[in-house]
This record gives sequence, C-alpha cells and structure tokens, in this order.
Amino acid sequence: MSKSYSFHWDHLYPFLEDVYRPEDEKLRLIRERSHNKGLSPIQVGNFDGLHLEVITRMVNPRRVVEVGTLGGYSAVCMARGLTEGGKIWTLEIDPAAAKVARENISFAQVDDRVEVIEGPALQSLVYLEKLGPFDMIFIDADKISYPKYLEWAEVHLRVGGVLIADNTFGWGRLLDQKFSTPAEKMSIEGLVAFNQRLASSPRFRATILPTGEGLSLAVKAK
Ligand code: SAH
Ligand code: DHB
Ligand code: MG
Repeated sequence: MSKSYSFHWDHLYPFLEDVYRPEDEKLRLIRERSHNKGLSPIQVGNFDGLHLEVITRMVNPRRVVEVGTLGGYSAVCMARGLTEGGKIWTLEIDPAAAKVARENISFAQVDDRVEVIEGPALQSLVYLEKLGPFDMIFIDADKISYPKYLEWAEVHLRVGGVLIADNTFGWGRLLDQKFSTPAEKMSIEGLVAFNQRLASSPRFRATILPTGEGLSLAVKAK
C-alpha cells in the first residue's frame, strides 16, 4: 500500500506556522496593501511563498521569469532567495497591479533585482527571449495560456533549469465536465493540458507538490 499524497493534519497548521514563520511583517504588509489598493487576494499562500524562496535558494538562478505579478508578493519571496547579481523579470497585464507591485517591490528593497514588465505576457516573453536562456520560471497568470507559457519555457529555460507553476490542481475541477462560463471552461482545460503536457514532455522531469492549490515543479532534463 502506498503512503498518502497530501496533508491531513489541519490541526498542526498553527504550530507549523508558528515554527516556520512563512510570512514575516514585510510580506504581511505587502499582502494587506495589495488588497487595500483593490487587487484580488489571490497571491500565493504564505507557505507557498516560503517554498518559492527556498526553491530559489536551491536553484541559485541568475535569470528568473515570473508570469503573473499581481502585487509582487511572490516576486518578493523569490527575490529573497536570489543571490548577488540575480534578476527577476515579472510580467503583468494589469497596469494598476503593476503599479502596486512596483511600490511593494521598492518597499521590500528588492527593486535593484526585480523588474516589472507591463503588458500581455505572451508579448513580453517574446521581448525577453534575447535575454535568455533562463534558470527558473514561475507561471502564475491566466490559466488558459499555461500551455503556451510551458511551450516558451521548453525552449527558453536552460537544461537544468526549473519550472514552477501555481494552481495546477485547478481548484479540484480538472475532471469537471460542467462549467458556468466559457472562460471557466477554458481555464480548467488549460490546466488539464498543462499538466498532461508537462508530465509527458521528454524535455522535463516533473512532479506536482500537494500544496493547497497544487504546485507543479519540474526540471528541464534535456
Ligand atoms: N504571482 C502573484 C499572483 C498572480 S495572480 C503572487 O503570488 O503574488 C495572476 C496575475 O496574472 C494577475 O495579476 C493578472 O492580472 C495577471 N495576468 C492575467 N493574464 C495575464 C496575461 N495574459 N499576461 C500577464 N499577466 C496576466
Ligand atoms: C486565482 C488564484 C490564483 O492563484 C491565480 O493565480 C489566479 C486566480 C483565483 O483564485 O481565482
Ligand atoms: Mg496563483
């Protein structure tokens, strides 16, 4: 019999939060401020932020791309794991979010290593190509385009580079057949295709970490 895949001990959460301290005062303020400025509270969870920092420290990247900035919460987490000389380009389509993100990134004093690029990510990625290859990419924007972002990463990550993607459990709806809007249907279909393509790609070795919303983690093997 196989051991279980995910976390079953919600009662331990306060203890774990108290011990690991996933979100310090600065991140708490960034989250609060983003919300007060009208952004939806959909930044990564507190422990996901810590995962991102620790993974960044492990990968030791010089060039990172984030797709989907929102208020810069996850960008600040990754920036904390970045060594001297590393750089994060983070892509955001919503000018209001980009503005808040720039403020938060300055507040966190990582504006020397994080650059917010405003516009549709698929366009910004074309612009970024000449700055690659990249060591790490974090995908966390519109779910419809996840397969496209993966295609880009297949080409523009270096061999040994790491891909991370948030929300890949699709809020539990990956197997659903009924949707209330076409947009909802396309988002879930995007996440299904993303999981299938990543898991079976000959260029990646991939897993999916059982975080609250599913965090795909892959290394470009060839
Ligand atoms: N990574 C952030 C959360 C991102 S939420 C964090 O954890 O802090 C998703 C973001 O993707 C939103 O801000 C949304 O405006 C942005 N987005 C959606 N479609 C996009 C697109 N086509 N190009 C760039 N950004 C996009
Ligand atoms: C939502 C959450 C996310 O983490 C994201 O990247 C996009 C949308 C949501 O809850 O709708
Ligand atoms: Mg997300």
